Amino acid sequence: MRAGSVMSSAIQLAVQSAFRAASQASQQWSQVHQTGTLFRTALLRVRSPRTGYSHRVQIGPLKLSSNLFLSPLAGYTNLPFRLVVRELGGVGLCTTDLVNARSLLETRAKAFKLIETRPADSPLAVQLFGSVPEEMRDAALLLESRGIAAVDINMGCPVRKVCQVGGGSAMMTELSKTTALVRGMVSAVKIPVTAKMRLGWDDQNITAPDLARALEDVGVAAIFVHGRTREQGFGGMVNLAGIRAVVQAVKRIPVIGNGDVITPQAAKKMFDETGCAGVSIGRGAFYNPWIFQDTLRYLKAKTNARRSELSSTSFRSVSELERQSPVLDGEAAELIRDDSPPEPSFTERVRVMCRHLDLMIEVFGEELGCRMFRKVAPMYSRRFGPAAEFNKRVVLISSRADFHDALEHYWRWRKPFLDEHGELLPRFQPAPLVASFMREDHPDQGGQIRVPKGPVEVW
Ligand SMILES: Cc1cc2nc3c(=O)[nH]c(=O)nc-3n(C[C@H](O)[C@H](O)[C@H](O)COP(=O)(O)O)c2cc1C
Repeated sequence: MRAGSVMSSAIQLAVQSAFRAASQASQQWSQVHQTGTLFRTALLRVRSPRTGYSHRVQIGPLKLSSNLFLSPLAGYTNLPFRLVVRELGGVGLCTTDLVNARSLLETRAKAFKLIETRPADSPLAVQLFGSVPEEMRDAALLLESRGIAAVDINMGCPVRKVCQVGGGSAMMTELSKTTALVRGMVSAVKIPVTAKMRLGWDDQNITAPDLARALEDVGVAAIFVHGRTREQGFGGMVNLAGIRAVVQAVKRIPVIGNGDVITPQAAKKMFDETGCAGVSIGRGAFYNPWIFQDTLRYLKAKTNARRSELSSTSFRSVSELERQSPVLDGEAAELIRDDSPPEPSFTERVRVMCRHLDLMIEVFGEELGCRMFRKVAPMYSRRFGPAAEFNKRVVLISSRADFHDALEHYWRWRKPFLDEHGELLPRFQPAPLVASFMREDHPDQGGQIRVPKGPVEVW
């Protein structure tokens, strides 16, 4: 049999099983949601909507369906990746890689490729960097004229080339110059202008709260803040108290927390401890583009549980509620209480990875799309369990056929790591991911998230 046809039946099987798994998961979740609805109807005594996690957030006039955001990741958050994330659901707003304002005005093909979009990729924010006020203003106008929903300003990029000309993190050190530049952009366009920053240059210069307040005063519609300083790079822990200080510094506008959110539980902790209006996820979406939908579901389940707990005239706690209620079976109760949705199965990961490659080829052409995919596929395989053989081959692909050969070979190679049901044997399962700021709760769990190699190491 030809490699191609073996592959297509393997993929077909995988896809069928992925759909089965997906439909089981969704049944499970609809059971949970149904249960939640029954609770609400039965109890009719929800005390305060503040006990839950509202999904809605508004950025200027832009009403978003979710308060979860895809962070800009230069080299990754291109149109195919954004479409994958949107197809899986749960994301409120995606942002492009950072784009040089001047390159847009000079109509450079590379810059225009970065802002390529289509109706399914909406709403979309484009992130600009630059330090010349007129260029930033005109680039914002250009984006508005092309139907882009929002413009984000990069104030966090620590790369020397960007900072040397007064862009990126350097903007955090020059308050009056920065606010003047931003004022010019805000008054030129009707679409919301937002700013993305770190906490400051270093621990001695935590400028984000002051900067956020000053930017609010000149009309910025939201602040995105990565809870680390420029000096920290990606080291150490995300500082939730630092994000909280930014939340407390502004009067009205939403502050979106960012940094190391790689699980639904980490998103909840960021919401709980910072009071932020939304959470933006970058690297967590590399390994797990399902994270947005999973997080929304997790927060919804938490909200239901919390509300039930609070309607305690007749029931004191969720566990008491469970004992008295015939509708909440053990599994649903477990999901409502603590667990996040199960990790996607191997076949679901493969299905989405194949879809991602298809979109890469559609948008960039077969050869470039495959070459670009060489660094993307290993992100998926990080959660496959043993994957050395796949990674070795996938970094050499130049065509769809090469990719399918690598996958087919891997499929066979992986068999010894599986039990009789086709599941990874426990000792080969990847360690659970744990956010930097949740390690004290799970000191024995080390699964962390890497920063890709290259000039972005210090982002
Ligand atoms: C590979 C890579 C590229 C990045 N590119 C950008 C960028 O273009 N603009 C930006 O504001 N931040 C960029 N960042 C920073 C992320 O948006 C985000 O703030 C940071 O990764 C922390 O969030 P995370 O832990 O969820 O990834 C980049 C980070 C990485 C790792």
